[in-house]
Amino acid sequence: MSDPILLEISDGIALITLNRPDKLNALNYDLIDRLMAALSRIETDADARAVILTGAGERAFSAGADIHEFSLSVRQGPNAAVQNFVRRGQAMTARLEAFRKPVIAAINGLAFGGGCEITEAVHLAIASERAQFAKPEINLGMPPTFGGTQRLPRLAGRKRALELLLTGDPFSPQRALEIGLVNRVVPHEVLLPAARELASHIIMHSPLAVGGIITAVTRGLNMTIGEGLQVESEQFAALVPTSDLGEGINAWIERRQPSYSGR
Ligand code: COA
Repeated sequence: MSDPILLEISDGIALITLNRPDKLNALNYDLIDRLMAALSRIETDADARAVILTGAGERAFSAGADIHEFSLSVRQGPNAAVQNFVRRGQAMTARLEAFRKPVIAAINGLAFGGGCEITEAVHLAIASERAQFAKPEINLGMPPTFGGTQRLPRLAGRKRALELLLTGDPFSPQRALEIGLVNRVVPHEVLLPAARELASHIIMHSPLAVGGIITAVTRGLNMTIGEGLQVESEQFAALVPTSDLGEGINAWIERRQPSYSGR
């Protein structure tokens, strides 16, 4: 059996591919565990300064949680269902959301259920014109379980999110753009180049500043503004003693390009 997660690191960018194309890259427990392991590897690898997440094959980014597998946990009762399925999926989306290196989803096809929840959780997303989104859990008689009831309303607004959650209807990449689920829609052939270009642009900056911005925004969104301002202040204070901040300021004063060390 081929590896359900492929990882390649080049030019400072880690490309993670969800790799179960014959199952529309459905997220089984093994795939989720291996995705978490890949993120742990990337976290400590200085050569990987940004992550692009995409799906293998012609049809799907991901058709969501593996229904065959999680139905077995459901049959075992609430404890097993929450422990094996919900906690695992929520841990995955929370890890993506809080990751200190930028994660860009390149949505190459269907992003249904958990595939849509990954899109909601990551920092940036680019969709192919061939992408299609849906919150189809209601068709199975259940609410979403990987954060889909929480992040989409924060991104799109309560009524827009509720319409998608309560109908389960598929929606277009253009609609995903309108509601703030993706940053842009591009022709299919340029999806990965566009994601690489965006990642390359971001990683020209100090990785410490990049991580500080991601943390302040992600944590701050779920706090009061007073608490969020405290997080912003802490993130800045942590940068003050670093050579990267000195380098950024000196380079501006000396009218030259900065050269960051990540320290
Ligand atoms: N879990 C497990 N397997 C899945 C899957 C999922 N979420 N989505 C697709 N697959 C598998 C199918 O079982 C099939 O495998 P098989 O040929 O071994 O049976 C293969 O992927 C292709 O899917 P298929 O349903 O035949 O493709 P389709 O073009 O007819 O339909 C979808 C595409 C996306 C509409 C349909 O696959 C679907 O409804 N998937 C579930 C989406 C969903 O509800 N996700 C949220 C789960 S909480």
